[in-house]
Amino acid sequence: MSTQVQMTRVTTAKIRDMKKKGEKITMLTAYDYPTAIAMDSVGVDIFLVGDSLGMVVLGYDSTLPVTMEDMLHHTKAVARGTQQAMVIGDMPFMSYQISPEEGVRNAGRFLQEAGAQAVKLEGGREVAEVTRHIAAAGIPVMAHIGLTPQSVHQLGGYKVQGKGDKAGQRLLEDAKILEESGAFAIVLECVPKSLAREITASLQIPTIGIGAGVDCDGQVLVTHDMLGLYERFTPKFVKKYAKMNDHIREAVKTYCDEVRSGAFPDDAHSFL
Ligand code: KIV
Repeated sequence: MSTQVQMTRVTTAKIRDMKKKGEKITMLTAYDYPTAIAMDSVGVDIFLVGDSLGMVVLGYDSTLPVTMEDMLHHTKAVARGTQQAMVIGDMPFMSYQISPEEGVRNAGRFLQEAGAQAVKLEGGREVAEVTRHIAAAGIPVMAHIGLTPQSVHQLGGYKVQGKGDKAGQRLLEDAKILEESGAFAIVLECVPKSLAREITASLQIPTIGIGAGVDCDGQVLVTHDMLGLYERFTPKFVKKYAKMNDHIREAVKTYCDEVRSGAFPDDAHSFL
């Protein structure tokens, strides 16, 4: 008899149910096959193939140069390494802003070609229409408000959003509009903790916070930030759970030393 454990994929219904039960939702970014396998084995609920890959994997200064082809390439790799987590493809700059039709077509590519189960897109009321069209096509949509990095030039930098009564009220309204438009969950990035708490309490759909305090229904971090793989800039909200670059440097230096001294390869790593 087989003893293989049957993995069940995390679904939008499960995510909604977790909010109802008060169970926190875990989400991390993923960009490649081996990391997806490792992270899936410990039960992360959601993998976001974030357009943050433009900065932390491809070395750009912002997420703006990232293309649909970049996103599909990485989403395919993550999907191949994932059995349990919900895989969400992040819609890159200019893939949904031009028209709802283009938005639906590009969102569909994440499911049809790359094996994702949902998409995420940035923006408030201005993306309500495209959100509605994508959701109506049967594609689950995660919304994203607050600091929306694709609008960095309009926002004037990577800053906390929704400070003050007027800006906070506008974000709360945006969240409600996106819920009504069919989003199944919403990322709140870089907003004051008290505002995130109010938005979370006002919505039926779960909120996933990044720099938004502990009262969101779940949390997300960029994996390369929390593992210590991206050292160019570390936002205040990032907790480093590992210093992976230190391990890489140490291992690679030892390898180079051993090759230079002739200690590697020894007989255990040779065909005798
Ligand atoms: O691209 C990304 O990684 C994101 C998260 C920071 C939410 O959008």
